[in-house]
Amino acid sequence: RTRLPNFYKLEHLYDALEKSKKILVLTGAGISTSLGIPDFRSSQGFYSKMAHLGLDDPQDVFSLDVFRRNPNVFYSIAHMILPPDAAFTPLHGFIKLLQDKGKLLRNYTQNIDNLEGNVGVTPDHLVQCHGSFATASCFTCKYKVHGDVIFPHLRRQQIAYCPFCTAERRIKRQQFEKLEDEGATSRKFEFIDSYGVMKPDITFFGEDLPDRYHNFIKRDILECDLLLCIGTSLKVAPVSEIVNLLPEHIPQILINRDPIEHSEFDIELLGYGDEVITWLCKKLGWEIDHKDFEKIANS
Ligand code: OAD
Repeated sequence: RTRLPNFYKLEHLYDALEKSKKILVLTGAGISTSLGIPDFRSSQGFYSKMAHLGLDDPQDVFSLDVFRRNPNVFYSIAHMILPPDAAFTPLHGFIKLLQDKGKLLRNYTQNIDNLEGNVGVTPDHLVQCHGSFATASCFTCKYKVHGDVIFPHLRRQQIAYCPFCTAERRIKRQQFEKLEDEGATSRKFEFIDSYGVMKPDITFFGEDLPDRYHNFIKRDILECDLLLCIGTSLKVAPVSEIVNLLPEHIPQILINRDPIEHSEFDIELLGYGDEVITWLCKKLGWEIDHKDFEKIANS
């Protein structure tokens, strides 16, 4: 992508934000870090804390294959990224403000913390590209529960099992142990450790993105009039490819702590996202409805 020749000053951005009616907001973990939820790839991020698990690649904590063979891996670390209750950041508040002003086409979030819902972004304005902790399903029979049903298990680092598959799981395990005693397991069948295990409806590597993503993205890239990309390293496809799918004439803005190499943006506002957005809103005379907003704006 080459930058737009007529879109490089902050005045161009203010003007676009005032005029835009269909903003596509693409977000990642960086919009939630100020609440203490780690991002993934920063030096202190979630993936930096995976060394003790002995994985080839820390991203394998979200590998479907690893979960299938050993759900303990995920259950031992998921507590670190469980969403806090009723919390959100000024960046979440900003997305809600765009919605209230009738400017938000859709927020494509890669986050699984479900905090966009806390601030009041409505489901029709939201695509959770990588699913979320909001619900969980049985790995075997797909029985679905509210996510918070398994939160206590995740916090205790204890596997949650499906109530409908428990008996069957026990029988299969006994069969397996008997065969193992006879030294015949590999010839007969393998007991799959994830049998009847509840898995949060997060999109793991090896799984397709939710239908909602595929249903909306094709038309949204043609409809949007501005892209705001906030708090993401754009390292994970297919979401990272959205910036390359947009028509050439759509301005693309980055708000991120670190520069990213994946794409050319017209304007890059580098810094802590909450501070950048607070400053930007002040310039525009917009008010974010957030309890911490004043504190940050005056600091
Ligand atoms: P990353 O950790 O890859 O990138 C987070 C980005 O946010 C980095 O570029 C940081 O510089 C920036 N950042 C951190 N704190 C910030 C702050 N306070 N203000 C502004 N920017 C800040 O996270 P994602 O891009 O979201 O998949 O990662 C994408 C996907 O990779 C995730 O959805 C996750 C992971 O595998 C699943 O959860 C399934």
